[in-house]
Amino acid sequence: MRILITGGAGFIGSHLAETLLDQGHDVAVLDDFSTGQFQNIRHLEPHRHFTWVLGSVRDERVVGPLVRRADVVFHLAAAVGVRLVVDAPIHTIDTNVGGSETVLRHAKASGALVVIASTSEVYGKGIQLPFREDADLVLGPPHKCRWGYAASKLIDEFLALAYWKEHRLPTIVVRFFNTVGPRQNSRYGMVLPNFVRQALANEPITIHGDGSQTRSFTWVGDVVGALTSLMAERQAFGQVFNVGNNHEVAIRDLAQMVKTIARSSSDLHFVPYSKVWDAHFEDMPRRVPDITKIRALVGFEPRVQLPDIIKRTLAYWRRADGEPAVAASRQVRSLGTPEYAATGAAL
Ligand SMILES: NC(=O)c1ccc[n+]([C@@H]2O[C@H](COP(=O)([O-])OP(=O)(O)OC[C@H]3O[C@@H](n4cnc5c(N)ncnc54)[C@H](O)[C@@H]3O)[C@@H](O)[C@H]2O)c1
Repeated sequence: MRILITGGAGFIGSHLAETLLDQGHDVAVLDDFSTGQFQNIRHLEPHRHFTWVLGSVRDERVVGPLVRRADVVFHLAAAVGVRLVVDAPIHTIDTNVGGSETVLRHAKASGALVVIASTSEVYGKGIQLPFREDADLVLGPPHKCRWGYAASKLIDEFLALAYWKEHRLPTIVVRFFNTVGPRQNSRYGMVLPNFVRQALANEPITIHGDGSQTRSFTWVGDVVGALTSLMAERQAFGQVFNVGNNHEVAIRDLAQMVKTIARSSSDLHFVPYSKVWDAHFEDMPRRVPDITKIRALVGFEPRVQLPDIIKRTLAYWRRADGEPAVAASRQVRSLGTPEYAATGAAL
């Protein structure tokens, strides 16, 4: 099949591209290299079934032809990470809502299956745990910027399901829960890469709040497996699926585990939220998925558990010895207007 991955030079997208190529598919990546980077896909360049395009999902001229060529679109391009979302709320909403709208509109003309990446953030302050896909969603008020990310992704979900309902365009929504693994960028407030880097440098491991907030961490390979399974399942059309590991861990316990496994001399350093974000910042106290639905449909089972996730992430950062720099000019450009678009390789 011909597959387009928007955001394919990012963390999850680059792993997905590798797997799809291994499975014999033809893969095109569209990315603006804002939080993703060319290094993530450089090794795929020689593959004869792989192409990449530098451009924005906000640019009709780029998205239209790429979507028309595709049988399946994995729409992963988004403004990602709490830091970016708090610092650039307009950019976040514009990229996430505008990007999905553009992709879906062009897919409607071609009939391509669109898999939309959403997030556990949409569960907001929900108190019925584990989170089920049909749960009521409780978001904070709009003056608290972090909820702009959840709200924008929620609009994406509504749009995707509306295209299925009104136009019978096949769409699938996946809600990712803290996905981790190699190539994840630590710059935008992602907790595990930050802990790992701090532990390896024997610097204080900084925990926001008292660390009692919980999260559930999923190995990127498990997420990719879920995506490729769903793609082949017609009963998934018009549906929302949690994609995550249902093992829950408190963030202070995670920090301690990283410290122990890394044999680090780091101290655990607790920082009040108000010092990291602003006085309005709200965190989610718990986050754990109910994965009954995706398990029942495609037999999804997370295979890699937290101790191994930490060991593998440590091994990656030991090898990587830091992240290759993302060109600052590219970040600035993508935060501004999306009018640029360049072809990185022949289509
Ligand atoms: N990693 C997680 O834990 C997690 C959790 C929930 C949801 N998600 C969602 O999964 C998707 C992938 O996230 P990721 O963790 O791989 O992050 P990532 O930042 O590595 O990937 C996002 C990619 O989108 C690209 N991009 C951003 N704006 C773009 C634009 N306008 N045009 C083209 N490309 C653009 C970035 O350069 C990057 O390569 C996102 O939609 C994100 O919201 C991820």
